[in-house]
Amino acid sequence: MNILVTGGLGFIGSHTVVELIKNNHTVIIADNLVNSKLEVLDKLHQITGIKPTFYQIDVTDADQTERVFTDHQIDGVIHFAGLKAVGESVAKPLEYYYNNLVSTMVLSRLCLKYGVGKFVFSSSATVYGENEVPFVETMTLLPTTNPYGETKKISERILEDTSRANPGFSVNLLRYFNPVGAHESGLIGEDPNGIPNNLMPFVTKVAKGEMPRLSVFGDDYPTVDGTGVRDYIHVVDLAEGHVAAIEKMGEGVSVYNLGTGKGTSVLELVNAFIEVNGVDVPYKIVGRRAGDIAEFYADASKAERELGWKAKRGIREMVRDAWGFEKNNM
Ligand code: NAD
Ligand code: UFG
Repeated sequence: MNILVTGGLGFIGSHTVVELIKNNHTVIIADNLVNSKLEVLDKLHQITGIKPTFYQIDVTDADQTERVFTDHQIDGVIHFAGLKAVGESVAKPLEYYYNNLVSTMVLSRLCLKYGVGKFVFSSSATVYGENEVPFVETMTLLPTTNPYGETKKISERILEDTSRANPGFSVNLLRYFNPVGAHESGLIGEDPNGIPNNLMPFVTKVAKGEMPRLSVFGDDYPTVDGTGVRDYIHVVDLAEGHVAAIEKMGEGVSVYNLGTGKGTSVLELVNAFIEVNGVDVPYKIVGRRAGDIAEFYADASKAERELGWKAKRGIREMVRDAWGFEKNNM
């Protein structure tokens, strides 16, 4: 298939491009580089031997984006492009609503206009709110605490309504849990600008000596050791999930959790990082972070049943590959 990957130079998008090419798909990338670097395109070339067609465009711009649809016979769209920093979304709500919603609407409209019937969307476990664990796709979604989470909920709704009204337009909504790790080559990985918000990129910066220590946000949660529990998923497993999702597209809208189904605490992850990589990660327990939930992990059985996809890599591979990428970029 000819697949348009928006945000294809970003963290999850770049790993998905590799897996799509490995599975003989032709990839066209659209990215405005707001949170990625052009050199990732060369890294993709190095890994796959193929340099995907690249458009440096903003997918909220309907005219620029339409060019991609007139230049290529697109069979499917995987829409990663979006802003994703929870804290920043509270400070800049309009930027988040505009970027994340307008991009989804522009792309859906173009799919209808050009008869593109397969659409895969990057949603998030954040849409569940503070639900009982494990999170199951059939749960009633609870309120989220920030504009970022709302952009995911509203995008899901826009795509559901659009698909219902246009039966040829099939959508897979993928709710990611906590993507970490990197490609085993160490050439692509997570490379956030500035001070990282998320646990794993912060841990790698501390291990590298760029940050003095990790702050562990709270050790008084009702969890295995009091620290927050999440369902970390290796980004290559997640990327493989996208290949399955675009290849096994059903009719209408389907929702899938992409996680491992297993929870890991902050301290379990940090200790695995120290043990596997043989490096020190100084940390200090501090107060809870506002808006954090004690524990969440996926019921990942639906994706296995319907897409034939299951995460294969464990925490040890995740910490090894996260460090492998960071070391390569020293
Ligand atoms: P990322 O920031 O690394 O990648 C997003 C890419 O989209 C970047 O390359 C950025 O330059 C591009 N982009 C943003 N707005 C654009 C626009 N208007 N036009 C063109 N390009 C644009 O983020 P990621 O971690 O790879 O996340 C990909 C998607 O998955 C996002 O939609 C994110 O919200 C979602 N998601 C991520 C996580 C996570 O923890 N990483 C969890 C759940 C969902
Ligand atoms: N944590 C620390 N110290 C840090 C960073 C994080 O102790 O410096 C803890 C958090 O308190 C939490 C765990 O590590 O218990 C994971 O935190 P992350 O920030 O890495 O991930 P979150 O689960 O909070 O959020 C992520 C994405 C959101 C997404 C959510 C659900 O950042 O965009 O997963 O998919 F909405």
